[in-house]
Amino acid sequence: MVLLETKKVQVGHVDSLFPYVKPDWWKDAFNEMYLRTDGDVVEDPAITDAECTDILGIPSVASLFSGPSQPQAVGETKSTIRVLDLCCGQGRHSINLARKYPSVEFHGIDQSLYLIELAKKLAKEERLSTNMVYYWGRPPNLGC
Ligand SMILES: C[S@@+](CC[C@H](N)C(=O)[O-])C[C@H]1O[C@@H](n2cnc3c(N)ncnc32)[C@H](O)[C@@H]1O
Repeated sequence: MVLLETKKVQVGHVDSLFPYVKPDWWKDAFNEMYLRTDGDVVEDPAITDAECTDILGIPSVASLFSGPSQPQAVGETKSTIRVLDLCCGQGRHSINLARKYPSVEFHGIDQSLYLIELAKKLAKEERLSTNMVYYWGRPPNLGC
């Protein structure tokens, strides 16, 4: 079933949903309902952990995290590495990585107020808020 304007219409199998939805469908889609439909993936810690392991398996990323990301100079406490989690949703990747790399600063941004508030709550529950910042917004020039 597809929402056409305000009417619900059955169109059967379609090759692409795009002709049937508003071009900016994504502005309203990532709310509580998103977690109900995609929660089996995006709320499964094992899946997130595997994805983060894949990210850390990229050599350039691994060297960034393992070397200069740690404080270099004696007495230096602030990380020189800042990671941007663009379109972070509920922050599952940055939260997972922040647990492993407490000295790295993570910044997440997402246009869904619902998911950003959830990200902030989850980071706070894990006491990760000191090295994590989440912003609600749509960065310009993303092309969407
Ligand atoms: C499929 S979700 C993935 C979320 C997260 N990266 C994850 O893997 O769990 C896509 C996210 O991109 C966000 N998003 C899409 N377009 C955006 C834009 N122009 N600016 C900010 N966030 C955007 C949505 O709100 C949504 O949370």
